[in-house]
Amino acid sequence: MKGLILSGGLGTRLRPITHTSNKHLIPLANKPMIYYPIETLKNAGITDIGIIVGHTEEKIREVKDAIGDGSKFGIKITYIEQDAPRGLAHAVKVARGFLVNDNADKKFIVHLGDNILKGGIKKYVDTFKNGDLDAMILLKDVPNPQRFGVAEIKDGKIIRLIEKPITSPNNLALVGIYFFNEAIFNEIDKLKPSWRNEYEITEAIQGLLDDGSKVDYRIIDAEWWKDPGDAEGILEANTLLLDEIISSNKGKIEEGADIQGKVSIGDGTIVKKGATIKGPTIIGSNCIIGGNSVIGPYASIGDQTVVENAWIERSIVIGEAKIDCETKITDSVIGRKVNIVPSDKTKSSRLIVGEHSFIAL
Ligand code: TTP
Repeated sequence: MKGLILSGGLGTRLRPITHTSNKHLIPLANKPMIYYPIETLKNAGITDIGIIVGHTEEKIREVKDAIGDGSKFGIKITYIEQDAPRGLAHAVKVARGFLVNDNADKKFIVHLGDNILKGGIKKYVDTFKNGDLDAMILLKDVPNPQRFGVAEIKDGKIIRLIEKPITSPNNLALVGIYFFNEAIFNEIDKLKPSWRNEYEITEAIQGLLDDGSKVDYRIIDAEWWKDPGDAEGILEANTLLLDEIISSNKGKIEEGADIQGKVSIGDGTIVKKGATIKGPTIIGSNCIIGGNSVIGPYASIGDQTVVENAWIERSIVIGEAKIDCETKITDSVIGRKVNIVPSDKTKSSRLIVGEHSFIAL
């Protein structure tokens, strides 16, 4: 069975980070977001994986550089370009040649590149692989189903799928992991763009249901599932992933630095005397954490970052940043090569920020 991971899309809710970088490369617990679905598929035995990449050239190259041919994960990766973000069903359609191009079982799994769940999906892969279903969807009980696609179930059968219902028939949200055979392509071919001008995968699955195809569901028992589309979403996912880290130290912790709880420190990083690191927190390689600094809890600090005179809590610093500001920074996402310096607080703050930045002063 082949796998398809979707990493096209514009990631508009994560601008300005996504002006220059693909959303799926934002690090969560210091690992690009897309590594998590790759590992989920690999751990379920899926080793022939297509990745949908969107525009621009720069963002496509960045994804290819980060993942390569898959050998570092022990899998084979094929990149498939989607000319514009025309919807999830469109992304599946452009991958048709990859997904059903041989005499293999013509069954495949589609995993959104921004969905992460705790625990594996092997049992669902095995169920679909060994059964005769045309499609299988995964559902998760959530407190806020209005944010998601929801499946209405009656007598153990899916009746219909509803996108972001105002009043939901239940709390069962559609997880961004779908199982299909080639029947889905007939339904995709019939689709018209939706009100948001996208080819919707939920409409294609609804088409299967309406045509009497065999569509089933499983309610997943994963402890958590996240689809981190906005800043708060990625901070929540980062927090959950940091809860899982194992303490390790490949750097240098000076005497007089205070390390509390689960902390992972990378190669060549120096934590200076007087610094405090509160776990769970991860610090990448070749960073300097200065004496008058507090990092964590729930901070992910990317490689080659220098922090002086600052407290960074529940935040993601992507990397190569310089932060020296005598201020506590919380619930923040700080892009690559950002420079934060102290201002004369008796006078004013000074900002040079790009389009779609968010600042709370
Ligand atoms: P979305 O979260 O719906 O879209 P997005 O990632 O562009 O973000 P935003 O809404 O902030 O603009 O996409 C869900 C997943 O599907 C995500 O991993 C990107 C991927 N995707 C594609 O690969 N192709 C597409 O045409 C679309 C719409 C999404």
